[in-house]
Amino acid sequence: MEFNIVVEPASAWSADAVIFFAFKDSEEYLPGFSVWMASDADWVSGSPALADFEGDLGTTTVIYGSGSSVQRVLLVGLGAEKEFGVEQFSQAVAAAFQKCRELRFRTVGVPLAAFEGIILEDRYEHFVVAAMGGLYSFDLFKSKKDDKIGLPESVRFLSAEELPEHFSEAIARAQAIGMGTAYTRDLVNLPPNVANPVYLAEEARKMAKKYGFKFKQMKRKEIIDKGMGAFASVFRGSVDEPRMIILEYCPKDREGQKPLVVVGKGVTFDTGGISLKPTGFIEDMKCDMAGAAAILGFFQAVGEIKPDLPIVGILPCADNMPDAASTRPGEVVTSFSGKTIEILNTDAEGRLLLCDALAFSAQYEPAAIIDLATLTGACVVALGWNVAAVMDNSLKMRNLVIESGMSVGERFWALPLWDMYKEELKSEVADLKNVGSREGGTIHAGIFLKEFVPESVPWAHLDIAGPAWRKKKTPAGSAGGTGFGVRTLVELTTRLDLEDL
Ligand code: BES
Ligand code: ZN
Ligand code: ZN
Repeated sequence: MEFNIVVEPASAWSADAVIFFAFKDSEEYLPGFSVWMASDADWVSGSPALADFEGDLGTTTVIYGSGSSVQRVLLVGLGAEKEFGVEQFSQAVAAAFQKCRELRFRTVGVPLAAFEGIILEDRYEHFVVAAMGGLYSFDLFKSKKDDKIGLPESVRFLSAEELPEHFSEAIARAQAIGMGTAYTRDLVNLPPNVANPVYLAEEARKMAKKYGFKFKQMKRKEIIDKGMGAFASVFRGSVDEPRMIILEYCPKDREGQKPLVVVGKGVTFDTGGISLKPTGFIEDMKCDMAGAAAILGFFQAVGEIKPDLPIVGILPCADNMPDAASTRPGEVVTSFSGKTIEILNTDAEGRLLLCDALAFSAQYEPAAIIDLATLTGACVVALGWNVAAVMDNSLKMRNLVIESGMSVGERFWALPLWDMYKEELKSEVADLKNVGSREGGTIHAGIFLKEFVPESVPWAHLDIAGPAWRKKKTPAGSAGGTGFGVRTLVELTTRLDLEDL
């Protein structure tokens, strides 16, 4: 699907359908829609379909006309104006494009006038990302791929006046975000026999080649030899080879500057290991690399958008399997930091590979660190499926994450990492144990990670266990991986001032 800008008076618009929006229970139509009807499309204002349309969020109606270059209007409900925000807009746009596919519209016209009265920052970006998100589907393994047939070929932004350069830049940026998100969703949706650590490393290598990133990887032996005993404990029972993947992006004039380091949990399948998960809790665990996948999607967007700061991605990838060689509960390992860990539950594996990645990140002298991980089921219990938790050692980082997320429709809520929680991780035999009590489980995981964050580096840990994965299709998109985190990371890079943290 391509996005174009077409400068033409309304009388010359051509498309299989043009999109307009309407709020629910509004006395008046949005101004651009009213003006267009009055001056160019009286057939719309007289249509009973228009009179019948209520404007409920995500509902659509098609108004047919003849004798004009535009023969269909797809009117899209935005819900009540007082409840309106970026999530509502995204949901409405996603639903609109699903309708376009259903009705096999090849070209979709989007008059800029349709956006008048929609008070949202970056509304064109939201539009493009939501359109791409709404049409996303994963049918690689379906023999019958009829799904793609109705996909619109082109979306035309229609304007009577020449648009400033930054408009097309905003559209290109939005497409990069949409593509990065779709890529993350693909990686998460790929089954664990395909998207294993070696596969992810090859993807990273290809991407590095395409965009000029630096790529490095560590294999099993090197991870062990480097002393990453916590990471190594996770893949002791694995047949699939583990990888530590490293991607480095640096704009030309930023060499020598301290980077933003992003770390992602890449557990390509989490059985729980010897602390095996029961049926009902194991089936979706290919999603356990969603943190690493979000960082790969983010890097793809970075390659296109080229933000003005150095960024390093560190992705510890392995699967967590039960085997005769697997780590047993009760074992003690030495982490890369030198701290010893008593592993009492092998299903708390995410923190084990992350703690070594976090400690290892010190060699990049990070200005700030953000990690993304599907880390705890307790987080889903606390915040539900649609909200991620943020835990940190820096109020600035916390607010940056929450505000960046809010502005792009990804919700984060802060949980505390007070020292009193450290009690929970005291071990009888080692420096730390890898689990605390069930109550406060998300925080205990955060407290554990905090122990390994390089001294005095501002850090935020994002537990995305809920929103990274959707069990069922919703109006916002299909079931499976959601790509959660990619947009927040992109947004964050534009707001982050590495010298002021
Ligand atoms: N990958 C899981 C967390 C998870 C659960 C992600 C549900 C997505 C959806 C993680 O490795 C895990 O199993 N955590 C344990 C920790 C516990 C043993 C302290 C959990 O949440 O039960
Ligand atoms: Zn686990
Ligand atoms: Zn896990």
